Formats: sequence, structure tokens, C-alpha cells
Amino acid sequence: KKSEAWSALFSEPMSELVQRYTSSVFFDKRLAQADIEGSLAHAEMLAAQGIIGSQDLADIQRGMAQIRSEIEAGSFEWKLALEDVHLNIEARLTQLVGDAGKRLHTGRSRNDQVATDVRLWLRGEIDLIDGLLTDLQKALVKIAGENVDAILPGFTHLQVAQPVSFGHHMLAYVEMFARDAERLADLRRRVNRLPLGAAALAGTSYPLDRERVARTLGMEGVCQNSLDAVSDRDFAIEFTAFASLAMVHVSRFSEELILWMSQNFGFIQIADRFTTGSSIMPQKKNPDVPELARGKTGRVVGHLMGLITLMKGQPLAYNKDNQEDKEPLFDTVDTLKDTLRIFAEMVGGITVRREAMEAAALRGYATATDLADYLVKKGLPFRDAHETVAHAVKTAIAEGVDLSQLPLATLQQFNPEIGDDVFGVLSLRGSLEARSTLGGTAPVQVTAQIARHRARLGD
Ligand code: ARG
Repeated sequence: KKSEAWSALFSEPMSELVQRYTSSVFFDKRLAQADIEGSLAHAEMLAAQGIIGSQDLADIQRGMAQIRSEIEAGSFEWKLALEDVHLNIEARLTQLVGDAGKRLHTGRSRNDQVATDVRLWLRGEIDLIDGLLTDLQKALVKIAGENVDAILPGFTHLQVAQPVSFGHHMLAYVEMFARDAERLADLRRRVNRLPLGAAALAGTSYPLDRERVARTLGMEGVCQNSLDAVSDRDFAIEFTAFASLAMVHVSRFSEELILWMSQNFGFIQIADRFTTGSSIMPQKKNPDVPELARGKTGRVVGHLMGLITLMKGQPLAYNKDNQEDKEPLFDTVDTLKDTLRIFAEMVGGITVRREAMEAAALRGYATATDLADYLVKKGLPFRDAHETVAHAVKTAIAEGVDLSQLPLATLQQFNPEIGDDVFGVLSLRGSLEARSTLGGTAPVQVTAQIARHRARLGD
């Protein structure tokens, strides 16, 4: 059947190519439940203000209930010719309830409608993502708690630096995800504001009660400028920026898991259900999940770039460009949710190979700083101590041994103050325990941090 002209003003129907180009229903139908929720709140307010009759409201409610169940049952017929989710639902409503359906759009535009829908939908997703961030943090705190005194070589420049607790290392990621959750809670306040009532761009001549609609929808308040209300997409950009940062944190963690799993490190194993084999090399177990997460980080950062670029040249107020906000936003939400969920599970399937980590920590003179600190306690200025230990390390390297394996007599050639108690200082465990400043890697500190996180996460 040939499609109809947009309205009496038009002399011909839209070309089929243009219809396909401009329609969004195949992706924005995802907003259907939010669209219905927003319409019901709007209709209820219209009736309370005497703008539509109470019978109209009842008809709209009945029609929307049916549409809801048709969508849930998958029997709702989405039509490309009706462009987007909003026009599809409104057309079906009118089909079901007649004139009341035609009254729903009083004092409203798709411009304030779509901005409201996206915000409502995103708010729901934000709350799910907040829960997933909590789950991931709990999983990390758990593995940290099991590995407070497992010793890992800490790196700077990927060169062995100083021994750290594996639990401490896990808690570094907990801090990152906790900050992500803070950012999310903060931006939620700006997402949760109501554009409806801005109408097309200038407000409307009907006596709308915008505050009432905001209350019905559980929003914190109304957008205070109609032009801004219909054209602002900062909330989506902010969300995508948050998501990019959370993915970057996942990506750094992924990189470490991949390294630690490599035969050259051998620090951890990831449960088989999170790894994949090779079609040619029978010996392989590949860390595909962290690798994909690292890759998907690029995709999410790309969405941030896409959205922010989408905004940069737009004059006020609404422009159709904004229809392009949805696919990147939807994909960002999907990618982040899947990633957080799989990581929370995967962390629970990590086996820590303590001996391999300790052996690696012993290979890089990780306790050299401890020897310098020991000499400082004997009265040497730190710079001199640093130089003295450099000589000691050079000798140890030449002999192919660790500092702790040099005989006391050899050590005393570098400084006669060195005594028998040096060997405790040179041990990995001694080094770990010595770093007990607040936030340091000493087991007492790590244990205290774990308790703090557990209380914070309600764990
Ligand atoms: N599908 C549109 C969007 O996603 C809805 C708003 C369209 N408004 C308009 N005046 N064409 O942005």
C-alpha cells in the first residue's frame, strides 16, 4: 500500500528512501515502556487540570494497558511508516480508543516527549548498573580478603618495584569502581529531571502542572528552560563519559589478567568457563573475555566521541540530529552491563598462584628500598643509603643471587652498621609488613580497608 502524505500541507508522500532514512522505530521501540509511562503521567495531569475529560483519561489508561501487553507479548505491530516509537504508540492508541487517543498529545511535542523517554529509560538502567558495580566490587573485596598475605611483585614501568599484597592490588580496582559508582550517582540527579511541558521548544499555552508530572514520574524536578529541556543531551554524554571511564578501569584490569595468565608470569588462572581454546593449537587456553572487554572499551569510548560530536554544531533548540543519540547510548548501556556482569563472575573464578608470584617478586630486588630504609634508620642520609644499596644490588646481580642471599660479611663491606637483623628486612614479608602507612600494602592496612569496603557495600 502506498504511504500517505504527512499532512494536508504536503503535496506528496515522503519518498521511501527518506522514510527509511528518517525512521527510528527499529531501535527506539526500546523506549516503549518509558514512552507509555510518560504519556500516562501527562494524561493524568491533563485530566487533573481539566484540559481533557476524566473519560478521556480512563480511555487512555485502558488503551495503554492493552498496548503494554501487546508489546510484552510481541504482538504489537511496529510500522516503519509511522517513523518512531512515539507515533507508533499514539496511532495504536487512537485505533483502540478513538478521540481520547487524539487528545493525548495536547500541550506536548515529540521533542519534549523523546527527551523525557530517554531520561526515564536511562534512569532505570543507571540503577541496574549501580547494582552491577556493587557486585563487581564485592567480588573483588572477596578475593582481596582471601589473598591479603599473598605477595605479588608490584611494578612501576612494568619493572619489579616493591612487593605488594595481592589483596591490596585488588582493592586498587575497588577504589576505581567505587569512584565510578559515585560519578554515576551524581549524574543520575541530572538525568532525573523532566523535559515534558517544554513542548516543541517554547513551552505551551495550556495550564500544565509540570511539577505534578515530575512527581508522578519520580523525578527530582523539572528542566527550568524549555529550549534547553528539548535540546540538552549532556545527560547522555555524561553517562557515556562515566561508562568510558568504568570501561577503562575494566580494561586496565583486563590487561593485567592477560599478562598474569601468560606462561611467562603464571600468577593466576582463570576458570575454564571464562577461557576459550584454539582451533589449531591444542595446548591453548586463551583469555578471550578480558581481551574482548579491552576491545569493547574502544567501542564505548567511541560512543562518547560520537555523542559529544553530535552536539557540537547544533543551534537551539531541537534538531533531528538528536535522533542519533540513541544507538550509541543503547550500545553503551548494553556493553557496560554485560562487561560488569561477566567480570563479577570471572573474578570469583580466579585462582591465585602464590608461589609463582613470590618467586617473581624475589627475582627483581624488590626489597632494595627496604635495605636503604634500614640504613637510614642506622643514621645514613637517604641519598647515601640509596647509593650504597645500588652497589649491593650490582654485586648481587653479578653473583646471580637475591640481596637476602648475600652473606652478612659481604653486606657489611657496603656498610659496617649492617647487622643480623637485616635479613628480616630483606624478606618479602618484612618488606610488606613495613609499609603500614594509611593506604599502604601492609596486611594490617589491607585488612582494615577490606573491613571498610565491606561495611560500605553492605557485605
Ligand atoms: N524520533 C525523534 C528523536 O529520536 C523524536 C523527536 C522528533 N521530533 C521532531 N520534531 N521530528 O529524536
